[in-house]
Amino acid sequence: LTTNFEELLSLFRDYVLTLKDERVADFIAPLDWSMPHRNLQPHKLQSSSLLDRITQLVSNDARPLAAMLAEHRDDLHWGQTYKADDFGQDFIDNYGWLEVFGTRGHFENDAIAGGLLILGPNIIYPDHHHVAEEIYVPLTGGTLWRKGEGDFIERDADEIIHHPSNVNHAMKTGSEPLLALYLWRGGPLAVRPTVTNGRS
Ligand SMILES: [Fe+2]
Repeated sequence: LTTNFEELLSLFRDYVLTLKDERVADFIAPLDWSMPHRNLQPHKLQSSSLLDRITQLVSNDARPLAAMLAEHRDDLHWGQTYKADDFGQDFIDNYGWLEVFGTRGHFENDAIAGGLLILGPNIIYPDHHHVAEEIYVPLTGGTLWRKGEGDFIERDADEIIHHPSNVNHAMKTGSEPLLALYLWRGGPLAVRPTVTNGRS
């Protein structure tokens, strides 16, 4: 079975274009969606088993993208930035990301990275920050998100969350898994975020 990677990129684009938000529009304005394909070997993760439930939870706008991820989960090149030593084995078993485009993803882009993050239920992703400016769009609701020194706030599916450069952020999932879309620009696109010990 060969993954139609062009379908992955076009479904990602189709979803992003449903978001009527000036910050998203500004991120994607310089993007040329005809990016060169990068040959990546499949890299499976345990967390991709969550995609069956996730596909049931997402909005109609996001369902084609989530269903594509679920269908082709074993052909895609999933990644993890952390090890069990960082946040524990339970985190590692319930965490993973897929870079659709960027400096290491399925499509080549040196200026902007775009991808998807999975977190399982009842997972804490502690405070962390990075130079790149970031937009997150949760595709499933029910996760608590914190920015800076603020409180944890439950965010709905298809909301826009903006993290300026080097501003801490953290997530706590609830009883359901999280799938979130991300966009990065303006900094190294393949770095390990700086993890801040602190309140979580
Ligand atoms: Fe981030």
